[in-house]
Amino acid sequence: MFLTASDALTTRLVCVSEEARPQIDQDLAKTVYAVFAVDDPQRFLGLVSAKEIAEQPHRIFADLLPKLAPSPVPENTPLARVYRRMEELDCWYLPVVNRLGEFMGAVTRSRILKVLLEENQRLTRRLFSLQEEERRYLSRELHDELGQYLAALRANLDCLAVFGNNQPQLQRQIDIINQLMDHLYCVVRGMIHRLRPELLDHLGLEEALRGLIEEYQSQYPGMTFGLEIYGSLEEMDEERELALYRLVQECLTNVIRHAEARQVKICICHLPDSPRNLCRRYFPPPRDRRVVHLTVCDDGKGLPVQLSPKGLGLAGMRERVEALGGTFLLESPLNQGVCVAIELPLKDSYEADSAAVGG
Ligand SMILES: Nc1ncnc2c1ncn2[C@@H]1O[C@H](COP(=O)(O)OP(=O)(O)OP(=O)(O)O)[C@@H](O)[C@H]1O
Ligand SMILES: [Mg+2]
Repeated sequence: MFLTASDALTTRLVCVSEEARPQIDQDLAKTVYAVFAVDDPQRFLGLVSAKEIAEQPHRIFADLLPKLAPSPVPENTPLARVYRRMEELDCWYLPVVNRLGEFMGAVTRSRILKVLLEENQRLTRRLFSLQEEERRYLSRELHDELGQYLAALRANLDCLAVFGNNQPQLQRQIDIINQLMDHLYCVVRGMIHRLRPELLDHLGLEEALRGLIEEYQSQYPGMTFGLEIYGSLEEMDEERELALYRLVQECLTNVIRHAEARQVKICICHLPDSPRNLCRRYFPPPRDRRVVHLTVCDDGKGLPVQLSPKGLGLAGMRERVEALGGTFLLESPLNQGVCVAIELPLKDSYEADSAAVGG
């Protein structure tokens, strides 16, 4: 018995196992192939992980396939022949068509996909780390330069105030400048803080998040911000700490800007055997890997039917999570606001997985 192109599409094989791999010559047999089907040929959403290929095959290169498709293969073509054809044509995927000539999906080589995916993840991580370096630099400059000048201005103004004692007009101007300086000082402090949350450096993720929530709570007293943390976050490496902090920050910014919500619930779960909590609604307890889960849900108006193509926040969150080998889910059930749910493998677990796959 041999597998055909359409068998592969309907079973959505990601890797053809050793037994199922067709008998082909030695060199070709080293190549591992992946298979995915396409539901919506109009959408192109970029590279995704192998896991997602299995779960949401329609997300992959969908718009490239009809346009750049090399000659398609009929659905009943044996996989071995599909692979050989790919080698002959020197292409890394072949579209599959049914008897009516309709596009069903594509067979591709996961090895190439994996290399592209890894390269993409590496570059994305580098990009985020450069972005954080730049933010750290800007925050230092703002603090050291602008902060010092503001302090000097304030001291000079105090001197001037002595002369203004019995000159009401001058005193009025000094008061106005003082008020403007107060405002400027608050703005600069806010920017420094947003660029580089000091609490994260000094007290760790948990305290930094509590500080962030307190800030939001005092700025938006009409709303309720809840934060539940299960398990200790102390052992996490800096890259993941920063990622989780930035993810929560972007979610909260989105809630304030778009959601019209009354309540936001944030849950972080780092315990495999923790009780039922918000994160468990999206991810089962992890068995064999060390992961951390984050869920941010609001009770606002939910996502619009069409997302603004200009927005970078959601796409940036997804990229950040996937670059660290994690999973990003975005849900907006009717009349129930928006939920962002994230699974992030911890450093040791992700690196062990990558090494195992690579080896
Ligand atoms: N919690 C939310 N509730 C309702 N709509 C949301 C929520 N989060 C995001 N959205 C919608 O999704 C769109 C895309 O969000 P995204 O964060 O990607 O971009 P943005 O916030 O518009 O801009 P930015 O690039 O500054 O983040 C938003 O414009 C908004 O319409
Ligand atoms: Mg946003």
